Amino acid sequence: MTTSHRIIIDTDPGQDDAVAILLALGSPEIEVLGITAVAGNVPLRLTEKNARKICELAGRPETRVYAGAVRPLVRPLVTAEAVHGKTGLNGPDLPEPKMRLCDGHAVDFIVETLMAEEAGTVTLCPLGPLTNIALALIREPRIAPRIRQIVLMGGGFFEGGNTTPAAEFNIYVDPHAADIVFRSGVPIVMMPLDVTHKALTTGRRIAAFRDLGTRVGVATAEMLEFFERFDEAKYGTDGGPLHDPCVIAWLLKPDLFSGRECNVSVEIASELTMGMTVVDWWGVTKRPKNAMVMRDIDADGFFALLVERIGSL
Ligand code: BDR
Ligand code: CA
Repeated sequence: MTTSHRIIIDTDPGQDDAVAILLALGSPEIEVLGITAVAGNVPLRLTEKNARKICELAGRPETRVYAGAVRPLVRPLVTAEAVHGKTGLNGPDLPEPKMRLCDGHAVDFIVETLMAEEAGTVTLCPLGPLTNIALALIREPRIAPRIRQIVLMGGGFFEGGNTTPAAEFNIYVDPHAADIVFRSGVPIVMMPLDVTHKALTTGRRIAAFRDLGTRVGVATAEMLEFFERFDEAKYGTDGGPLHDPCVIAWLLKPDLFSGRECNVSVEIASELTMGMTVVDWWGVTKRPKNAMVMRDIDADGFFALLVERIGSL
């Protein structure tokens, strides 16, 4: 199969980030040019280490992993250990990584890659706060027209927020970075909570990973079992939302998702609604359409894809 997507994954692993990375590494249509870590679910020293742990779990220690921003642009870092555990990757017992972190800053790697590769061929896949992406756009504005697209997990509209009543975690943690990204003019595909809350890690779906009988399959089941407990208690559902893999799944099978082109604007002024993604779903303003906002997912098809690809690792 020929590679159809060349991507940089920007991430704060995070169990659901980890599953997204595994999906990408297990998919021959995707070439992962590098993984850039950002502070988010846990501090940067843990997210960059967790990214390396997952590459090794996937049997891909040659993957380039870079460390990026230690904190958001303006606001203090907010983390989510209550959801992800103290390490950010609680659940499976994964060894300390042997592969080394690449020299250099994640933001430089993003800029240099986009300037060196043919314009329009590299996709950015942010799975955490958008700090590194915003910094790259500020550092070298000429990258914007060279980015094929940004496919990101973040925001929520009909579902409201998961961190405050108005805001989803990734956007809440660095709303100023998100504002820069949504104003950048780069084509954006957005996977908000409205989609991810329909992709639940039910008992049957987790069992399918465990039943693969492989080290990666069992580790995936263990990660998801830990990850879902917080949201099961919060939402009263069988299973929790599996957010970040939606980004990679869209690259592989866009027909699993549906949504519409809208304007998305990020609240950066009011403390009450800080980080809210205001989606003009009904087109009631003249603000330009800047994102393809997803709202629905074929959840069974999504989990079947995950099991197939993670089963190949
Ligand atoms: C997002 O926040 C993080 O906790 C998850 O990894 C995901 O990227 C969901 O709101
Ligand atoms: Ca994440």
